[in-house]
Amino acid sequence: ISEIKGGESEGLDRLGQTLTVRGWVRTLRVQSSVTFIEVNDGSCLSNMQCVIDSAAEGYDQVESGLITTGASVCVEGVVVPSQGKKQKIELKVNKLVTVGKSDPSFPIQKKKVTREFLRSKAHLRPRTNTFGAVARVRNALAYATHKFFQENGFVWISSPIITASDCEGAGEQFCVTTLIPSSKEVIDSPADAIPRTENGLIDWSQDFFEKPAFLTVSGQLNAETYATALTDVYTFGPTFRAENSNTSRHLAEFWMIEPELAFADLNDDMACATAYLQYVVKHVLENCKEDMDFFNNWIEKGIIDRLSDVVEKSFVRMTYTDAVELLLKSKKKFEFPVKWGCDLQSEHERYITEEAFNGCPVIITDYPKDIKAFYMRLNDDGKTVAAMDMLVPRVGELIGGSQREERLDYLENRLDEQKLNKESFWWYLDLRRYGTAIEYQKEMLQVIHAEKILADSVLSQYNINSIILVLIVLFYLVPHAGFGLGFERLVQFATGMDNIRDTIPFPRAPGSAEF
Ligand code: 4AD
Ligand code: MG
Repeated sequence: ISEIKGGESEGLDRLGQTLTVRGWVRTLRVQSSVTFIEVNDGSCLSNMQCVIDSAAEGYDQVESGLITTGASVCVEGVVVPSQGKKQKIELKVNKLVTVGKSDPSFPIQKKKVTREFLRSKAHLRPRTNTFGAVARVRNALAYATHKFFQENGFVWISSPIITASDCEGAGEQFCVTTLIPSSKEVIDSPADAIPRTENGLIDWSQDFFEKPAFLTVSGQLNAETYATALTDVYTFGPTFRAENSNTSRHLAEFWMIEPELAFADLNDDMACATAYLQYVVKHVLENCKEDMDFFNNWIEKGIIDRLSDVVEKSFVRMTYTDAVELLLKSKKKFEFPVKWGCDLQSEHERYITEEAFNGCPVIITDYPKDIKAFYMRLNDDGKTVAAMDMLVPRVGELIGGSQREERLDYLENRLDEQKLNKESFWWYLDLRRYGTAIEYQKEMLQVIHAEKILADSVLSQYNINSIILVLIVLFYLVPHAGFGLGFERLVQFATGMDNIRDTIPFPRAPGSAEF
């Protein structure tokens, strides 16, 4: 249908052609002399209006009540101008074939149904306008994601789904190892299948992986190993969090895009995140016009203008310390009081981007080390880390990233501070042993600024030795940085959908793992 009705002429260039359309019946309107069947094949939002009268082959299927909402049909007809206001063309049916009839109990009839109701019908909701449009925009965002990174020389890395390490150190992992044999008895009674020692503890030596293993919360650590070999890489895959948060922004299973850039600092990281977001939003505005008009009219008024601004305007950048000050000065009453050192809550994030900066994305940097993960690079103040979170309206945190701690001793200290098991990170620490950085901490700062030094053409201020040193150090040290973007939050941002559970085909959240 998109092939027929897409394009400038909306199908008028096909007048007189005989075409076949296959799809699912959305509605049926029976009038005295003709019947209108609206058929949708999911290729676009528009239905094909098929007009059938008693002269058409297969008309008896309309008369006998075989054609109902949900049935699949194959319709052959001639393209004619439409009298209706909604479309330029329609199909005058020559032949109608019911491919699969639909039981009258089909639950999604024309009457308005709530999103909540549709969540309980996740297997049928893609047949609605809203969920068809979300699926197409989600697909376009995925395509644009690969396009952006591929065009910029990044290599896509498949990070593992089963892992022994907890990247975020927050203990929010789903354990996967306890069930070994896949026999029916195990499925019926999983607790009995867990191998136990004499004193009742889990006997990991008998387990499939011979030690505890989990579903990954992030592919970052694995991506870092490839970035320190291939320079710029990205992952794009499912991640899992056993967070018991029943909010409109959290899922237990979500997709994450995690670029990792070698020879890059926090500024490079922010520049990459900004360019990436602008690229994918622009792609959707240009390539999903019909769906975006739908979201603009029915889901969030003004979303197209809001997204166009994101593409054109530069994003605000501020430090965490300044953000806290801004929140303290605001007259708004927050549920969670703010003070330096606290994690920003969704209400704070949304206030900053929606109210303080009028809908502009805001990148907050340099968070207190105690509220961030162990791998983030410690700043010179010893209190904050080179972290960045990108906040966007309606969603709050869309991206979390940082420059990585490349100094082995610092990294080990941070693991100790956060009471994480250093041994299990042996391979990650190896990256700092083999070609990342250990002893050159002072010169490191010069490396970070090397680009600026050269760009500012102030070479004369530096003696030639220091420039050579900078270049040598560049060779030995690999400052690297990266970020993670929650793909469903991006879909939320780009479509205006209120609840993250409506941005992924089959949402996983506390108490819901059906379908
Ligand atoms: O801020 P987070 O936890 O960062 C990381 O996982 C890093 N390892 C990323 C990196 O630097 N490579 O998660 C990154 C993003 C968040 O900003 C958010 O958009 C999304 O992942 N996210 C979730 N999305 C849906 N449901 C959840 N439960 C999410 N938790 C995080
Ligand atoms: Mg985060």
